[in-house]
Amino acid sequence: MKDTGKIVGEALTFEDTIIVPGFSPVEPSQVDLHSSPARGITINVPVVSSPMDTVTGWRLAVRLAQLGAVGVIHRNMSVEEEVAHVRRVKEAPQEPFHPYETAREGVRISGPVKPTVITDTTGRPAGILLPLGSGPHTFLLEDAEYTARLVQAGVRPSLDGMGRLLVGAAVSPFHAERAVALERAGADFLVTDVAHLHNANAVRALQDMARRVGIPVVAGNIGTREAALDIASKVEAIGGFRVGISSGSICSTGVVAGASMPTLQAVLNVRSALEELGLAGEIPIMADGGVRGPGDAAKAVIAGASTVMGGRLFAGVEESLGRKVRVGSRLYKTYRGMASRGAMEERYASDRYSKPSKQLEEGVEGLVPYSGPASKVVAHMYFGLQAALGYSGAGSIREAWENGLLARITPTGRGEVNPHDIILSP
Ligand code: IMP
Repeated sequence: MKDTGKIVGEALTFEDTIIVPGFSPVEPSQVDLHSSPARGITINVPVVSSPMDTVTGWRLAVRLAQLGAVGVIHRNMSVEEEVAHVRRVKEAPQEPFHPYETAREGVRISGPVKPTVITDTTGRPAGILLPLGSGPHTFLLEDAEYTARLVQAGVRPSLDGMGRLLVGAAVSPFHAERAVALERAGADFLVTDVAHLHNANAVRALQDMARRVGIPVVAGNIGTREAALDIASKVEAIGGFRVGISSGSICSTGVVAGASMPTLQAVLNVRSALEELGLAGEIPIMADGGVRGPGDAAKAVIAGASTVMGGRLFAGVEESLGRKVRVGSRLYKTYRGMASRGAMEERYASDRYSKPSKQLEEGVEGLVPYSGPASKVVAHMYFGLQAALGYSGAGSIREAWENGLLARITPTGRGEVNPHDIILSP
């Protein structure tokens, strides 16, 4: 067969690869996970929640920043509303609530949930439990337990220079006024929210927007080396790249439009561009879409990402914006793509500057199982990432970039690596 030059390479996914075990000089619990979601900003847990209208509002953003991660407020609302979300995060208490010796012995919380003082075994107040919603008390106890684990592991809240919680906010590159208003409200960084940023008009608009704000702007989404080289050369002081096209769990772009750059491959591509520019490690890469847990996150980090962004990861938690739905005896939350019919209809109603550039739905709407407090997800990601980087022989994110290795695995190998030959307990 003749090589026509039309097939330009391979696009690897998380499922196609494994982390190569390497000699580790440290214990997993000593792995340092601090990293940057945007240039000049540091968080302790390299996980960012996605700006989606069933995921990140002030409630989730507060909780994530208290737990060492960070949230990006979605933009499917008016400028004033998005500004109000940012302000609420900046005004929220910084400390995750404190130890719970007595929580394990069974703090009794009955009736409507109110802020509750937790006492230690001598009856001395040990902290205050501040429920962010009105979940059942099992939620509070679970939240207390996971928060305590994170606090005990040394995870600290993500704070700005004035001791306030960190928060990101989503913008369209075409709405510089929104960006300016969000900066004024105290947003620490902005994240552009475009399915395909590498487009002449979008890049031109981004050039202008980046000049008008003083906080870092994370540019995305992109997936190729060429996009990173082009945008880095045209936009001054880029604050980071948000990478991955059509890997999202609610994304149908790959089906309806056929275009994709799976998140892992997108990170590899953008990292290679930044290496060429001598900017690797300086411009953070946010791996966005399809991250199902700490194993995928660790692969993204080894490929060159500073943080991972998750929508599905947080959609089921108590603090997400999705609506709770009961089906039979099970609880679910709504989750939808920002290019789904429902989300698009809302956007045009709430923001008069928003114009449909495409008539096509590229996202789906559905339900995900309710998964309890956000602290449970953060703890799973934190301890799981420590374990995964421990296997790779890295003691930090930087060491993972330098020494971590991935290998391709065959489809039959994937079957062997996943649990097999057992009927799993429900
Ligand atoms: P997840 O973590 O796999 O659920 O993917 C979330 C990511 O999917 C988001 O951060 C966006 O980059 C992307 N995304 C959100 N809404 C849509 C959509 O409607 N179509 C395609 N991609 C989307």
